[in-house]
Amino acid sequence: MQSSNSNEVENYQVRKLEISDKSKGFIELLQQLTVCNSVSDQQFRDRFQELSLCGDDHVICVIEDDHSGKIVASGSVFIEKKFIRNCSKVGHIEDVVVDSNARGLQLGKKVVTYLTDHARSMGCYKVILDCSVDSREFYEKCGFKQKELQMAKYFI
Ligand SMILES: CC(C)(COP(=O)(O)OP(=O)(O)OC[C@H]1O[C@@H](n2cnc3c(N)ncnc32)[C@H](O)[C@@H]1OP(=O)(O)O)[C@@H](O)C(=O)NCCC(=O)NCCS
Repeated sequence: MQSSNSNEVENYQVRKLEISDKSKGFIELLQQLTVCNSVSDQQFRDRFQELSLCGDDHVICVIEDDHSGKIVASGSVFIEKKFIRNCSKVGHIEDVVVDSNARGLQLGKKVVTYLTDHARSMGCYKVILDCSVDSREFYEKCGFKQKELQMAKYFI
């Protein structure tokens, strides 16, 4: 017989972000990742519509906890179209976060796998991301390798 823990894990499915996810704690989840001020319903709708126009070139995925109805994990991937390497494409993974109460259940790995599979299915030759030193081991477990270094210039 399976433990209740493994049953729970099987119930967590990755899907694309839906407009109703704002009321399921999506923004509060992002606030666990970085600075994310409150977003009004109108702002959320506008940004959601804008992203929808990008279709499969910009996907935000979530995991909803079926029992609580809350969004407990999320991440996004953006498909960059290039001229180099025969007009190739590169996937950029961003904003991967798992609710602090749901960490350690392989949900982060599920999200990263979903985003990576999407980039591959879109014809990308690689998928890349920036991460903190603390999350390095997590991404290594997801099959990533350290490469180069990150440079940034902030405007605010
Ligand atoms: C990093 C984060 C997404 C991991 O999510 P998670 O659901 O707890 O991770 P998983 O359960 O899928 O872990 C997958 C594997 O990575 C390991 N792992 C997860 N976080 C780790 C960490 N911080 N350090 C070392 N190993 C880690 C797990 O032990 C597991 O190993 P296993 O497959 O051998 O059992 C989550 O801790 C988080 O949201 N952190 C805050 C936001 C953040 O730092 N996001 C990353 C953006 S740079």
